Amino acid sequence: MNEAPRLIVALDFADADEALAFVRHLDPVQCAVKVGFELFVVAGPALLDRLHERGFRVFLDLKFHDIPNTVAAACRAAARTGVWLVNVHASGGAEMMRAAQEAVRSVNETTAVLAVTVLTSSDAETLREVGIDRAPDAQVRLLGELAVRQSGLDGLVCSAQEAGMLREQLGEAPLLVTPGIRLPQAAGDDQKRVMTPELALASGASAIVVGRPITRAPDPAVAMRAFVARIEGVSSTR
Ligand code: C5P
Repeated sequence: MNEAPRLIVALDFADADEALAFVRHLDPVQCAVKVGFELFVVAGPALLDRLHERGFRVFLDLKFHDIPNTVAAACRAAARTGVWLVNVHASGGAEMMRAAQEAVRSVNETTAVLAVTVLTSSDAETLREVGIDRAPDAQVRLLGELAVRQSGLDGLVCSAQEAGMLREQLGEAPLLVTPGIRLPQAAGDDQKRVMTPELALASGASAIVVGRPITRAPDPAVAMRAFVARIEGVSSTR
């Protein structure tokens, strides 16, 4: 398989036909695709097969969080479909994450397991509501350590603002995948903290997730190439 692209396009569409019509604009050598809750709930694993047939690497973004046995079973099933990336919530704990990693390894050496630390929609108040008095940054560091160092996961989904801090803490090995990416002149939509593609990669991101700036562009192929051109010259840690 070709080298992992550093651009992941979020297929936030409401049905499989729309998603499959859209990916005709994309080049699987230049970008991978991300399938999230809505699309997976309507389209299921058959869509993953169609995307794989077209040569795309797939990030299955379902953020599993349950008892270790259940999460391991879900991750194993995901790995069997051949997806490139699958993810879990780090707050599920080390036992859950280790079970996920082992289950994936048992069926597929090429699927990587990532952890979500603190959702970027959460702030200090959200954490307090659920009984966590730590600042969001400190909680991200704690869960990053738990996921990568103590549970052996392959990497994290994090905000680009956290990438530098996590790279320093965890070294070069983990994959750091960052959403919330915009070109300098673009509106941020509902993304509160955005970063340009080149700055995200220079800060330590391994790959960036881009949704609406490509999916809603008048010409998605042109938009995809614009993102690729911006990141081509930037060397990233991993
Ligand atoms: O359209 P946009 O570029 O904002 O899409 C970003 C994608 O990344 C969406 O699929 C969104 O759910 C996802 N995401 C995010 N922020 C996170 C985690 C995931 O925007 N912290």
